[in-house]
Amino acid sequence: MKKNILDMLRGAGGNFTSGETIAEKFNVSRAAVWKHIRALRNSGYEIQSSERLGYKLNSTPDLLLPEIIQHELNAKIIGAEIVHRDSVDSTNRLAKKLAESGAADGTVVVAEEQTGGRGRLERNFFSPKEKGIWFSLILRPKCLPKDAPKFTLLAAVAVARAMERFKLRAEIKWPNDILYEGRKLVGILTELSAEVSRVNYIIVGVGINVNVKREEFPAELQKIAASLSEVNGGKNLPRADFFRAVLEEFDALYTANDFSEIFQLWRKFNVTLGKNISVISAETGESFGGVAVDIDADGALIVDVGGELRTVYAGDVSIRAK
Ligand code: BTN
Repeated sequence: MKKNILDMLRGAGGNFTSGETIAEKFNVSRAAVWKHIRALRNSGYEIQSSERLGYKLNSTPDLLLPEIIQHELNAKIIGAEIVHRDSVDSTNRLAKKLAESGAADGTVVVAEEQTGGRGRLERNFFSPKEKGIWFSLILRPKCLPKDAPKFTLLAAVAVARAMERFKLRAEIKWPNDILYEGRKLVGILTELSAEVSRVNYIIVGVGINVNVKREEFPAELQKIAASLSEVNGGKNLPRADFFRAVLEEFDALYTANDFSEIFQLWRKFNVTLGKNISVISAETGESFGGVAVDIDADGALIVDVGGELRTVYAGDVSIRAK
């Protein structure tokens, strides 16, 4: 009902709708309408009321609530189901639980704040309240476990394309960090549940620093983290609109399922290829230096190490100054 009333106020295009019209349309009492209006106000909607004219929606909160994100969301699979929390330890952890109990392909789990956000290599991921977009996607693609890392590159391309829509330049470091002046704007953590020859589900966790000011990052992150607002010349970005753009871009790439096209787009945004890099291989723990040549058909990085080509499937890359 709350959602129906909201849709009706949205549909009024900035005009008043009388309490009577709403009550009649949904066959409820005017007291019930009032109760739902109060609930909407408590969620942050600014609704003006006039005894004579009724109710008018003045503004929508910049929260990542399902009814805000799903409003005019142009996507087929991603975001058809959205689970929202004010606060959660980690959206990846909650997404895993939901996936285990059968959540559908494309389900989105999003929180305004994470108290135990997880990064790669068991690091913590700073996720302050209402300053970023901390979310996880539950995916059930028909593919082999070895294909799972490709979805990490897909996620990076989706965020880069959303940034493009907002006229923000995106630079992707292999495999999936999005950087600004060498500092991380976006981190992605992909986790897999699989049998030998079948994927049960993939969780793609994405953390986007949107409106975190430099001084709001903990001291140890200030030199290595950045926010989209910084790329945007110091102006905050509407999180809900940006999130909708990310989900739409992800949905378009995911449903087209054309990884050679996705990797072409990845190449367009990447800042790793052609550079001198240092690699710590996640498979062997070995460190080595070389020149990043290309990515292969699996999204793995090909590195020229003194004339010998090595393929890196997972690892940490840093770009060396020339
Ligand atoms: C990294 O760069 O180390 C990966 C960071 C991934 C952070 C996101 S935020 C949403 C999701 N939930 C988590 O606990 N982690 C991922």
